[in-house]
Amino acid sequence: MLRKILLGILLILITGIVVLVVVNLSNDTEPIPETEITHGVEVAEADRPWWEATTVYQVYPRSYQDSNGDGIGDIAGIISRLDYIADLGFETIWFSPFFKSPQKDFGYDVSDYYLPDPEYGDTLLVDSLIREIHKRDMKVVFDLVLNHTSEEHPWFEESRRSRDNPKSDWYLWRDGQGEEPPTNWHRALGMNGWHFDSGRQQWYFSSFLSFQPDLNWRNPEVKEAMFDVVRYWLDKGVDGFRLDIFNYIYEDPDFRDNPFSLRVVPTQDFTKMFWQEKKYTMNHPDDFALAKELRGILDTYNPPRFMVGEVFGDHKTLRNFLGDQQDGLNLVFLFDISALEWNADFFRDKIQRIEAFYPYPYTPTYVFSNHDRIRSISLLGNDLQKAKALALLQLTLRGVPFYYQGEEIGMPMANIPGDQALDPLPAAFDWLPEFAKDQVINRDNCRTPMQWTANANAGFTDATAIPWLPVSPGYETLNVERQMNEANSLLATNTQLLTIRRASQPLQWGSLKWLEEYSAGDVLGFQRIYQQEQVTVLINISDVEQSLEIGPGSTILFATGKADVNRNRLVLGPDSGVILK
Ligand code: GLC
Repeated sequence: MLRKILLGILLILITGIVVLVVVNLSNDTEPIPETEITHGVEVAEADRPWWEATTVYQVYPRSYQDSNGDGIGDIAGIISRLDYIADLGFETIWFSPFFKSPQKDFGYDVSDYYLPDPEYGDTLLVDSLIREIHKRDMKVVFDLVLNHTSEEHPWFEESRRSRDNPKSDWYLWRDGQGEEPPTNWHRALGMNGWHFDSGRQQWYFSSFLSFQPDLNWRNPEVKEAMFDVVRYWLDKGVDGFRLDIFNYIYEDPDFRDNPFSLRVVPTQDFTKMFWQEKKYTMNHPDDFALAKELRGILDTYNPPRFMVGEVFGDHKTLRNFLGDQQDGLNLVFLFDISALEWNADFFRDKIQRIEAFYPYPYTPTYVFSNHDRIRSISLLGNDLQKAKALALLQLTLRGVPFYYQGEEIGMPMANIPGDQALDPLPAAFDWLPEFAKDQVINRDNCRTPMQWTANANAGFTDATAIPWLPVSPGYETLNVERQMNEANSLLATNTQLLTIRRASQPLQWGSLKWLEEYSAGDVLGFQRIYQQEQVTVLINISDVEQSLEIGPGSTILFATGKADVNRNRLVLGPDSGVILK
């Protein structure tokens, strides 16, 4: 009898463990909708806004270029590098925040939305940055943190002072349940998001870290104050905004507890993790409505402006931010594809989904890294050939490509251990194993200074200065100057591709059509079609040479790796690709 009971318990335990493992290792696959895609008959270029066809380069100001030898990148430094970005061929620059901030999250904790932090420069310099960018025929995009402020923002300082001051309701304040927080809500990256304030004797909620209290957007004064910020920068001539964690702005007004989930390991879109589904704290319908309201403001400006949202969720949810009538955010980041796997099926599946969920007039985005993520070349095993093939793909797909500074030369991740990080994240996850903190959580490793030259400090700051983060050791051989002098460098590949893209109507405005003969196998094959014109892209995502049949009269417009045409056959080397005309 006892043996039977023990056996039963053992069976239940084993089943439980199997279920947990399966639930935690799986990623839900979303059904792909049937979408009718029309080719070559889209609205003509002249009737379409510039942002649909732009290319975006992200600058992380702290690490781009220092001009005054304090080891911190600044606005004057950026201005001195604008010709580089223009010559490289990007049309739009997005700046991570340089507003006044205690820099606990390096600018994503804003204490004044109108002023630059003195470390970076003054208002005159910001004005001249905008002017200098426009002078070079480029567009400028600022980063807006609407969800939260710094705890040192005067609004929060006032709000926490008492329960009845004029700003007392500007943040999410609640009484606890006895000693416990008001709800079970986790922050964006998991674990309790409530913090007790001993002055007010109440809890405040923060979606990110404790020093970044969430604003209460249900208070009309908060909304107006933030809309004023939006209008201020639009009036100054800023062409658009990148909206920080836009899908965490509204929470459930009734403060209901989030439901339990079997998921401990975060899902790729962060909707479930650490035993919780973020039903009431993420992707609230009021976020979608706010997207439309903001669009209403932007659409009163001419020339047109745009917004790209940092949002997470499945495609169906993300599309809600864009609005049924394309009347919400203009673009959202589609991070799903950035979990790079080097095989053709991976790309085929992701791109097919993107095409099905965001057919024209929606515009997709292609983003493989940023200041929070593992740099793409490190995901590709530091393989230059693969990085070139990826650039070819990213710059020929339909949608807006986003590059993070340094990607154009293949800057890899640094090796700063988690326990030496300046980034606040590793300390907020001090219970995680070292390996996770070192590379995944420690964002210092993707934020090391831009590698300009082989000189001391990589030309980022004075040779004798101490850069805020150490320059990565490989900079003597991996830097902009060197790649400018190499015909075959990744920088040269990117520059050529950007030039070709700018000169090609199909690549900028065209629809995307998969070639049937490549619906399986190691080669990605598609056409970009705009009215009567088309180009073909073929990329071999494997280490095996491929011999492919191509149309008569096709010529190679651009190739990366090995590509030889012999009559109607194209031989593509491993990880090599072409644009054919
Ligand atoms: C976004 C930013 C990240 C920042 C966080 C909190 O994810 O990209 O750098 O730490 O929001 O503002």
